[in-house]
Amino acid sequence: MATIVGGITTSHIPSIGNAISNGIQSDPYWAPFFEGYAEVHAWLDDVKPDVAVMIFNDHGLNFFLDNLPTFAVGAAPEYRSEDEGWGLPTFPPYRGDAALSWHIIDSLIDQEFDIATCQEMLVDHAFINPMRLLWPDQNPPPIAAVPIHINTVQHPLPKPSRCLDFGKALGPAIESYDEDLKVVLVGTGGMSHQLDGKRAGHINKEFDKLCMEKLVDEPEALTEFSIHDIVRLAGTQGTEIIMWLVMRGALGARVKKVHSSYHIPISNTAAGVMVLERAA
Ligand code: DHB
Ligand code: FE
Repeated sequence: MATIVGGITTSHIPSIGNAISNGIQSDPYWAPFFEGYAEVHAWLDDVKPDVAVMIFNDHGLNFFLDNLPTFAVGAAPEYRSEDEGWGLPTFPPYRGDAALSWHIIDSLIDQEFDIATCQEMLVDHAFINPMRLLWPDQNPPPIAAVPIHINTVQHPLPKPSRCLDFGKALGPAIESYDEDLKVVLVGTGGMSHQLDGKRAGHINKEFDKLCMEKLVDEPEALTEFSIHDIVRLAGTQGTEIIMWLVMRGALGARVKKVHSSYHIPISNTAAGVMVLERAA
């Protein structure tokens, strides 16, 4: 049977990709950010997952305002990357596992999550940058991917409680798959940020820290915030924390924190990286 080996939260901001491309990870500006990934690499080397379920938000590459599913699951043999205008490189297609995707889709729909199914799906910076961060020297990365998109572009967004419940359905959907695969869950995005409007550059360290703390032992506490509370507290794009809630829901009731790092660069967006494992 498939096993969930753990979950990772990670930032996906476009400038990370450009920092990697320019080889400036150890510059003083970037070093505190990239240093937060050393322990994640050690953990990944140790657990050696076969599959990454990438919970990310499409930013307008596949879906636009005219047609925007709340939840969409990729079911393709491979996923092509494209740049939406950030000047990021594209990469050879990422390997999928369509059989696992269809199993997950069957199970989610059986559990009454009526997702969109995508036999073609492009992947943007919210998928590519985490791949480059998690497997920096390995391109293509040594895993198959199942991409899962959550709408954070067009309101109404799914409620935090719905996202946690989606994760609670996703966990059993993965673990009922009849192949001996090790699966890591990756929730991309966050933390507090607002890219436009009067509050552009808004960051809320206190709220970010609260999210990181509660995500471990008390994720239900985060469902008490409405999407509009999160916009107010964490900025318009701070809603990306819902990807983390999906990941956390899929890990099950109790987890232990293996690693955590938080960094506010001088740019727009606070970055949090965590590794969580299931606890007995
Ligand atoms: C930035 C952050 C994002 O989440 C994103 O999708 C694009 C840009 C930023 O901080 O620049
Ligand atoms: Fe984003």
